[in-house]
Amino acid sequence: MTATAANAATAVNPATAGRPDIAHPATYAAGVPHAEFARRRSNEPVAWVDEPLLVRHSSAGRSVDRGTGYWAVTTHDAVFSVSRRADEFSSGEKGAFLRDPRTPGDLKQMRQLLVSMDAPEHVRIRKLVASVFTPRAVGGLAGSIERHAEALVEKVVAAEEFDAVPDLAAELPLLVLCDLLGVPPADRHLLYRWSNALVGFDDPEFGGGDVEAYRTAFGEAFQYALRLGMARREQPTDDLISRLANAEVDGKRLSDREFCSFWLLLVVAGNETTRHLISGSVEALADNPGQRERLASGAVPMAGAVEELIRWTTPIMMFRRTATRDTEIMGQSIAEGEKVVIYYTSANRDADVFAEPDRLDLGRDPNPHLAFGIGPHFCLGAHLARLELVTLLTMLRPHLSTLRLTGPVTRLQSNFVNGAKSMPARIG
Ligand code: HEM
Repeated sequence: MTATAANAATAVNPATAGRPDIAHPATYAAGVPHAEFARRRSNEPVAWVDEPLLVRHSSAGRSVDRGTGYWAVTTHDAVFSVSRRADEFSSGEKGAFLRDPRTPGDLKQMRQLLVSMDAPEHVRIRKLVASVFTPRAVGGLAGSIERHAEALVEKVVAAEEFDAVPDLAAELPLLVLCDLLGVPPADRHLLYRWSNALVGFDDPEFGGGDVEAYRTAFGEAFQYALRLGMARREQPTDDLISRLANAEVDGKRLSDREFCSFWLLLVVAGNETTRHLISGSVEALADNPGQRERLASGAVPMAGAVEELIRWTTPIMMFRRTATRDTEIMGQSIAEGEKVVIYYTSANRDADVFAEPDRLDLGRDPNPHLAFGIGPHFCLGAHLARLELVTLLTMLRPHLSTLRLTGPVTRLQSNFVNGAKSMPARIG
């Protein structure tokens, strides 16, 4: 399917009256519409958004799809509040993603992902996986992350001209995920393909709205995980995935289905997010020479600089909830069953919380950003994502002064992740 065909999906949304349509994936090809989010935070922090018509493809032909519409929640206060009121704003009712499940089967499939579960099931599974996913366990990956980062930096420095997305940003999380998930590094292109098809669903270059490509990727990845999980149950090794396959809480292990679902969530959650964090950080440093010098010279601590790059990039722009009863958010009435979307990307630029929010300040402290969410679904991979960026930037630090972008950045058409597909760059 061609880009033109997918762009035909860009039906103008009359409700936006000439302003960027925050619901439309194509809007984000030009970057996050920060000015529109700032306007919303000031004028209508919790406001109804009509969703645009989007084209979908399947063996049954071409169809158009329009979501139910939703309440867009844009201030830091309100995003924080909704995230913590999990009994009123459910992740499981209709899943945690903007797109409404089309069939009961789709909803069932989606609810197998931890991120789309509610208590008590969420609590049970999270307890089990968190017991494996501790900072200590993740710290065990530090040595291999260092080796991967060092090799990648050596390669791009030697090449001088490179594409920061495939050559740097995509490679590190994939190599780390292979270590984490027990996948041979040679199979990492599979992880790349599956996660592109699942997360890049709306982008013409990846899913292009093709429902079957999405289902196929889901099915293939599930089968792969099943084979891997069975092998690790029969013959445990000392990797994290063996521990996950065999971990028990209250005498119960994850079922095969639960194991595969969690494995698949890690493929997506640990791959795209960190990729976009790394490329977004490269772009931010290239665009802000003063800040880049502060980091290169050691004038600001690395850990704080990484927090600011996470705030600045906010790789996951939003997640969805569904109201379980009639309620309110900051005085705005919300009816039971309505869709509510919490915009981390907007919360992280809220001037009530961050001084000069549109300025990259690598020395910013405190930095209470919400890029990893907050509340019961707080990101399980936050520690790993931070470790990857700290390690990579530490290796890049001696070369930062000569880092430049050399061509236009191509962005992903996605209303969910803030990502680049291509970023020509140069070191030296
Ligand atoms: C910069 C990188 C990352 C960002 C910005 C990010 C962001 C997020 C956010 C916002 C949530 C909350 C979802 C919600 O409230 O509905 C989340 C959950 C989650 N993340 Fe991450 N993530 C990142 C990296 C990772 C990595 C590297 C992994 C694992 C390898 C991971 C695994 C997870 C999991 C399993 C959940 C679900 C937790 C739950 O539902 O209880 N994430 N992430």
